[in-house]
Amino acid sequence: MVNKEVEKVIVVRNAKKVYRMGTEQIVAVNDVSFEILKGEFCCLLGTSGSGKSTLLNLMAGIEKLTSGQIIIKGKNIPKMNETNLAKFRQRYLGFVFQSYNLMNSMTALENVEFPLVFKRVRTKKRKKLAQDMLVQVGLGNRMGHKPKEMSGGQQQRVGIARAFVAKPEIVFADEPTGNLDTKTTMEVMNLIQAIARENNQTIVMVTHDPRLASYADRIIHVLDGEIEKVEVLHDITDPEVYQRRVEEARAAAPKLSELESSADPKKKKHGHKGKKKAVQEMKAGSEQSSDQKTQ
Ligand SMILES: Nc1ncnc2c1ncn2[C@@H]1O[C@H](COP(=O)(O)OP(=O)(O)OP(=O)(O)O)[C@@H](O)[C@H]1O
Ligand SMILES: [Mg+2]
Repeated sequence: MVNKEVEKVIVVRNAKKVYRMGTEQIVAVNDVSFEILKGEFCCLLGTSGSGKSTLLNLMAGIEKLTSGQIIIKGKNIPKMNETNLAKFRQRYLGFVFQSYNLMNSMTALENVEFPLVFKRVRTKKRKKLAQDMLVQVGLGNRMGHKPKEMSGGQQQRVGIARAFVAKPEIVFADEPTGNLDTKTTMEVMNLIQAIARENNQTIVMVTHDPRLASYADRIIHVLDGEIEKVEVLHDITDPEVYQRRVEEARAAAPKLSELESSADPKKKKHGHKGKKKAVQEMKAGSEQSSDQKTQ
């Protein structure tokens, strides 16, 4: 039985992005078309320079298309003006960044509250929602910590809590586990998958690692700016498949006690941005961090 009602939440048609560098033209995304269903975990998988981040940034409205269409929730993203795009992002989109992009001067709780400030959620409710979300990612005992007082994995869990706290319909993530060790990577992947499946949220995640792509329902293989192939691992239009994956994600979600015990203050610290820059980037929904640029 197939549920034909599942919404095509992202539709990309003949998307093309050409960068001009002096006289040189770089075709980063070349006539790409695909669809992503509501509630699907979709991975853009490809080697370095294949155009994954460009494609993600085009979908998020951070980069402008050269030609083609990107329709999210029925809205043509490239046609939107900056004001409407900013409102659209606040309402429907969440972002997880490879380098966390947390604000150093703020505590974990304040960082997670941040997206709710823009949504004008009242202080008391904001605090409660952020606290609940931090408990869900296993950081109930780190709420007052600033980013520098947390391990890399804990910081990324704050990043996930921040991305998901406002329950956005779509979460974009560019190599969200790129700075984490293998064990923490798996915890973070299980966490993202569990939260998204539970709330029927759509994830679009960029990775170069086929092992991480196995968390996805749909893998879009990107090669030299084009789509090599699309693999559907779970057909979520099948209600039985849909239900089974929710149950699997619940079972695989890391236990809070395990997450707490994995806190290791000796883990390597990562570079952080200044607060002003972080605020600007958060507002813009940009994830072009210096880490990613130098990959
Ligand atoms: N702002 C830019 N100006 C010019 N060329 C760019 C720009 N951004 C990306 N490119 C080029 O576009 C191509 C695709 O880059 P993109 O960042 O999308 O790759 P990627 O698949 O995300 O790679 P990685 O895994 O290394 O992050 C590359 O050849 C890159 O050099
Ligand atoms: Mg990239």
